[in-house]
Amino acid sequence: MQSLVEKAEVLVEALPYMRRLLGKTVVIKFGGHAMVDAGIGASFAVDVVLLKHIGLKPVIVHGGGPQIASTLNRLGKESVFVEGLRVTDDETMDVVEMVLGGKVNREIVESVQRAGGRSVGLTGSDGALLRVRKKIVDGQDIGRVGEIVSVDPRVIVSVAESGFIPVVAPIGVDDEGLTYNVNADEAAGGLAEALEAEKLMLLTDVEGVLDSEGKLLSQLTVDQAQKYIDEGTITEGMIPKVSCCMRALKNSVSRAHIVDGRVLHAVLLEIFTDDAGVGTLFVP
Ligand SMILES: Nc1ncnc2c1ncn2[C@@H]1O[C@H](COP(=O)(O)OP(=O)(O)OP(=O)(O)O)[C@@H](O)[C@H]1O
Ligand SMILES: [Mg+2]
Repeated sequence: MQSLVEKAEVLVEALPYMRRLLGKTVVIKFGGHAMVDAGIGASFAVDVVLLKHIGLKPVIVHGGGPQIASTLNRLGKESVFVEGLRVTDDETMDVVEMVLGGKVNREIVESVQRAGGRSVGLTGSDGALLRVRKKIVDGQDIGRVGEIVSVDPRVIVSVAESGFIPVVAPIGVDDEGLTYNVNADEAAGGLAEALEAEKLMLLTDVEGVLDSEGKLLSQLTVDQAQKYIDEGTITEGMIPKVSCCMRALKNSVSRAHIVDGRVLHAVLLEIFTDDAGVGTLFVP
């Protein structure tokens, strides 16, 4: 009997969050690194379907770093990174489009549908969602890597309003119609801003942002985050994550979190419980 009461208490604890988030948009980035386990993929899909059923508007953006790397590897191509961004020649871009837009995107769409939801897969070139230009990093041309110039979220709005869960692969398109590889965190941040999302949640393969001793930082202000980047505590793939959370907070997004996507039901735990221990919350 006690355990039944505890179950009821969990639902009661969730009630104020459900009420506050009704009708609100939540952009969730599912990192390629958190995605490697099938059980995690299924629990993530169930969480998102639950959000949709209780009246939130979830939008999924996914990465796919490890999946791209393993396909390139099989083709005998090495992955090269500059400041956490993949150097992308034309051949690599073909692989990026096949793996992100083809394989990874379909897998997520299908897992959402197996969980009882209805989802639609898109890339940032659909409906000219993500307009980009070539990104120059430290004066270096790193190929088909795009930085977001503008976001036209209408295709997402119409998909979501029709009752579907949009699943977006981070590929952008320039004025000439050429496609580019976009960091998935930047894509998620850009979408969250354009949709004026209530929440931006980035799921990754670590507990959250860690300090130099490897301890979880459960809250970070914009100034503290910049300090950790400058002193080299935040590096590589964590840099675009932290930068886009800081930007999102300045631009109309109410809350930004980095969450451990390896934990089962990480999304539900973060959204519907009072536990502060889930990941890193950015505070203005
Ligand atoms: N201060 C830090 N705290 C936590 N992780 C950090 C920190 N600095 C660097 N990292 C690295 O950032 C990584 C997360 O970014 P990464 O780009 O590898 O994954 P992802 O964005 O979740 O997946 P994908 O890029 O495939 O979408 C961590 O695994 C860790 O190695
Ligand atoms: Mg990354």
